[in-house]
Amino acid sequence: MKPHKPKELAADSSNNSLNAVLQALRCEPSPLSGEALAARLGLSRTAVWKRINRLKAQGSAIAGSPRRGYRLLAPPDKLLPAEIALGLQARRLTGPVHYFEGLASTNDLAKELAAKEAPEGTLVVAESQSRGRGRLGRQWDSPPGVGLYVSLLLRPPLPPSEMPQITLTTAVAVARALKRVTGVAPGIKWPNDLLLGGKKLGGILTEMETESDQIRYLVVGLGLNVNNPAFPKELRALATSLALTTGRQFSRVQLLQAWLEEFEALYDRFLAREFPAILEEWRSLTVTLGRRVTVRQGPLTICGQALEVTPDGALLVREDSGEVVRVTSGEIAA
Ligand code: BTN
Repeated sequence: MKPHKPKELAADSSNNSLNAVLQALRCEPSPLSGEALAARLGLSRTAVWKRINRLKAQGSAIAGSPRRGYRLLAPPDKLLPAEIALGLQARRLTGPVHYFEGLASTNDLAKELAAKEAPEGTLVVAESQSRGRGRLGRQWDSPPGVGLYVSLLLRPPLPPSEMPQITLTTAVAVARALKRVTGVAPGIKWPNDLLLGGKKLGGILTEMETESDQIRYLVVGLGLNVNNPAFPKELRALATSLALTTGRQFSRVQLLQAWLEEFEALYDRFLAREFPAILEEWRSLTVTLGRRVTVRQGPLTICGQALEVTPDGALLVREDSGEVVRVTSGEIAA
């Protein structure tokens, strides 16, 4: 049987001219004719008409015709490439954006693209995932239209041992973005779970491919529960969303833009060897240090006091015997 290929929208740089049309419509409450739009943007009328149709096909609610003029009825509540690019302040990590209504896993596709030499900054975004993956082989619940399911491709010229630091950096960027857009300050559970009220709000799955002791590529996958009105029974005690905690709805586009902007700023500092300052910020946001923890690391269970996170991202736990154990992966169960 032929494998089903998910439908992809606008994964190329012609997004720029779509953005320009969208921007012009955003700023104009009265209808803008095809002619006026063409003159304003330096495009032919046919080019304008084509872009309007593409925006409509992507889900933008645009009413009107070339002669009567076009009007944007409401910005779509979708993570469309043109919406993401509009007003995005990031300079380097800006696409191409591969957008899907439904996908198995954004991380899986990002890895496929990476293997085909996609550039750093490539972003894979889906409205839903059928096989969203979490850490330690878990599933990531990814219902349509309510969460962020995104994967960002990076190519840091560094050894694989630095990957944990990028994961911690990502969590700090998510915390910053959440604070900026929603006012909500999540806690970070080592290594990179985002928590609100003790429940999981988001998680990060970082995966990499190496080549002769260098990172060939790294995919940072972010899952964030934004407007989920509820969770399946088995997750109810464990997971929460921004909407459930605050009673408000949030723009996923705005959250994604804020994460990209904060991440880019932190990633630049990371590449400039400023990780110690990022780690300090991570320490100020974590709910793990100083607490009694139970860490599951494969078949091992380590119980004790969480003392410190080392500059390479490992957690130091003082067991009841007094021995200090270095934990490099695993999950804090309690
Ligand atoms: C965790 O277990 O805490 C990590 C969850 C990561 C989920 C995200 S959703 C987007 C990306 N694609 C995936 O398949 N997983 C990550």
